[in-house]
Amino acid sequence: MTWSATVLTIQPDMFPGPLGVSLSGKALAESAWSLETHDIRRHATNRYGSVDDTPAGGGPGMVMRADIVAAAIDAVERRDRPVILMTPRGRAFTQARARELAAGPGAIFVCGRFEGIDQRVIDGRNLEEISIGDYVLSGGELASMIVIDAVVRLLPGVVGASDSLSEESFEQGLLEYPHYTRPQVWEGREIPEILTSGHHKKIRDWRLAQSLELTKLRRPDLWDAWQRRHGVAPTKH
Ligand code: ADE
Repeated sequence: MTWSATVLTIQPDMFPGPLGVSLSGKALAESAWSLETHDIRRHATNRYGSVDDTPAGGGPGMVMRADIVAAAIDAVERRDRPVILMTPRGRAFTQARARELAAGPGAIFVCGRFEGIDQRVIDGRNLEEISIGDYVLSGGELASMIVIDAVVRLLPGVVGASDSLSEESFEQGLLEYPHYTRPQVWEGREIPEILTSGHHKKIRDWRLAQSLELTKLRRPDLWDAWQRRHGVAPTKH
């Protein structure tokens, strides 16, 4: 079975968008995965096609209605797929979650617009809330594309060399080491000597040391977790 994504949105024209080109686009054309959109507006109940209303309790913005969003979710075939709500309030998306999703049959994405969606549909349909980072986008569509892209490249056969996946950032809980290629000298900068030494063990050690150093500097959260996993007491910061 191909991995299948269904996206519930009021902006179906945004898809496939960037997912239709490059790696994911090629895999889509080759049916390594499938994508369908479902327009939430199809379930609007008034003649204006509105899907949102004013927030209970007052305040700014508009909220997507529970009945309309639920009708859209219920109209889609589940096929054992998780129903994910893209929202900055969600749990942080990680490479680990991308791997889990890639191992399953696909996912259904609910894209919120406006201030968000009625809490009762989140509870009533048991939505998994996922955030792609601590910033607010104008809708969940771009966020869902990011999740889909991260998953699709993990599907079997999509990325050519599978060892390029196991080496990359986050796979070992560390940031990736720096890369170099020709020319040997560029603007007076040389490729680190060790990389041209042909000494595989030394190269591996150097790369690990670089990964550790970079992670420690840039991502104290990942660094603490790595130290804990390797039985080292985390450093105070
Ligand atoms: N929708 C708006 N902002 C978002 C974010 N940071 N992550 C996921 N969905 C979003």
